[in-house]
Amino acid sequence: ANALRLGVAGLGTVGASVIRLLGEHGDALARKNGRAVEVTAVSARDRTRDRGIDLSGLTFFTDPIELAQSDEIDVFVELIGGDNGPAESSVRAALSAGKHVVTANKALLAKHGVDLAELAEDNGVCLNYEAAIAGGIPIVKTLRESLSGNAVTRIYGIMNGTCNYILTRMEKEGISFEDCLADAQRLGYAEADPTFDIEGNDTAHKLAVLTSLAFGTKISADDIYLEGITSITTADIQAADELGYRIKLLGVAQKTDTGIEQRVHPTMVPKQSAIAQVDGVLNAVAVDGDFVGGLVLVGPGAGGDATASSVVSDIADLARGDVTPVLGMPAKDLADYTRARMRLH
Ligand code: HSE
Repeated sequence: ANALRLGVAGLGTVGASVIRLLGEHGDALARKNGRAVEVTAVSARDRTRDRGIDLSGLTFFTDPIELAQSDEIDVFVELIGGDNGPAESSVRAALSAGKHVVTANKALLAKHGVDLAELAEDNGVCLNYEAAIAGGIPIVKTLRESLSGNAVTRIYGIMNGTCNYILTRMEKEGISFEDCLADAQRLGYAEADPTFDIEGNDTAHKLAVLTSLAFGTKISADDIYLEGITSITTADIQAADELGYRIKLLGVAQKTDTGIEQRVHPTMVPKQSAIAQVDGVLNAVAVDGDFVGGLVLVGPGAGGDATASSVVSDIADLARGDVTPVLGMPAKDLADYTRARMRLH
């Protein structure tokens, strides 16, 4: 078969890692999948910036929509970010042009996921987003495929690497919130606008998508109770410690008598629990299913290389011809969501 041709939109931390990964493991991937993948074109605002990757031989676009519609690509890899603007318009353009889309954009999915899933179905293409949730942890495919035989009763966990990195260093090294955040930005963990991390929005975006996958409901981010970590002080962390707890920013979705409850807030977790052991940029996602019981996936939740690992797994699925439905079932068949209840204080 001809090589599957990729157009990579956005050459930030993740985009550069994807290109480097494909450079290092391209041959092995071709052997494993029975089809080669090849980056043929890219888009970014600035052509000349040094990103430590070789762009020679690749067609360069400054407009991602032109890349999305280019005859030179079969798959549009969206790594621009943001829930509107060029990310949204270029993803729509790619799907409408019959290109598969691979994205790491949780904000876009939280806001327009059902709509984009329908557009993908209408055009007979895939929208893959393993990298959008919890970086390198393979939770999307785990829910959509490996756990599909279960009725999920609860899904919860640490879904933002930046917050967990900050809370861990505040606790263990007594470093100030601001200094920890600056380090998380320098290490490429934080969002372009880090208020999305620390105010909990990023966790809410991921939770909204996981809730849909776990419970077969429509994505509804607006129903999520939201509280970030900006008011957490070292004194709070010490007080929790004395009581036998650690403070973690959790996203939780669970079945209740009245529907699916979704919430994001700092939570005191018992020190012996699995979640409490998860430090630094690691994320953890726990799933309770009626037949499997409970399980926890732990791994790097942010950072270019870990996220690129998930992006490339989605590309590999396309190279093998895997066309699993975007949201675990056709978007048009999604049951009407039950309005999530706000947490009562
Ligand atoms: N800013 C996000 C985080 C990146 O810190 O988890 C991964 O989605």
